[in-house]
Amino acid sequence: MLIAVDGPAASGKGTIARALAKHFGLPHMDTGMLYRSVALTMFRFGGDPASEFEAVRACEGVAQIDPTDPELRSEVVGSIASRISTYAGVRAALLERQRNFASQAPGAVLDGRDIGTVVAPNATAKLFVTASPEVRARRRAAELLARGMPAHLEDVLIDIRARDDRDTHRDAAPLVQAADADLLDTSDMEIDEAIAAAIELVERKIAAL
Ligand code: DC
Repeated sequence: MLIAVDGPAASGKGTIARALAKHFGLPHMDTGMLYRSVALTMFRFGGDPASEFEAVRACEGVAQIDPTDPELRSEVVGSIASRISTYAGVRAALLERQRNFASQAPGAVLDGRDIGTVVAPNATAKLFVTASPEVRARRRAAELLARGMPAHLEDVLIDIRARDDRDTHRDAAPLVQAADADLLDTSDMEIDEAIAAAIELVERKIAAL
């Protein structure tokens, strides 16, 4: 039982993936955290995000990063993560870790950008979670403010658009809906509705097996 949840920044995919993991009793991996861990390693040690060589080297430090470190969630680290995730060498270095997690019993939920297309193309169920850039910017700004971080809606929107652009136009594993993924547009949904819709989509996939 493998569930792939992909989608752009602040679409709600992380919350949905965690809720699916809880509902189906499966372990969950937020794969964006791997890219963020590489980014934080570079940020701390002064690595140059323009250098693929340095970014690939920073992948070795991923296991040393505390997954609860609040700096992982900062906008600057997210932005470096988006840049270094364009490197094929970085994606290759992080692939095995994700595939190992995905292949454990009794299954797993992974969320990211390329789970249904590259990491787990044979997933039992695939969701592509999206929402309009404006809705995602509002959610991200509220989330940052709640964590006591500064957030200006217009800046957050600019950043979200830039990240979408990079994530969808990179050569290596771009963000794209898998042909066999179910689309879940959460623009007009509260999070509880989105979770209920996601559970229903996955249950329908299981029933059809
Ligand atoms: O989901 P997130 O914002 O934590 O992800 C941070 C960056 O990592 C995102 O801009 C793109 C990259 N990423 C990726 O390329 N592939 C994944 N499976 C997950 C994240």
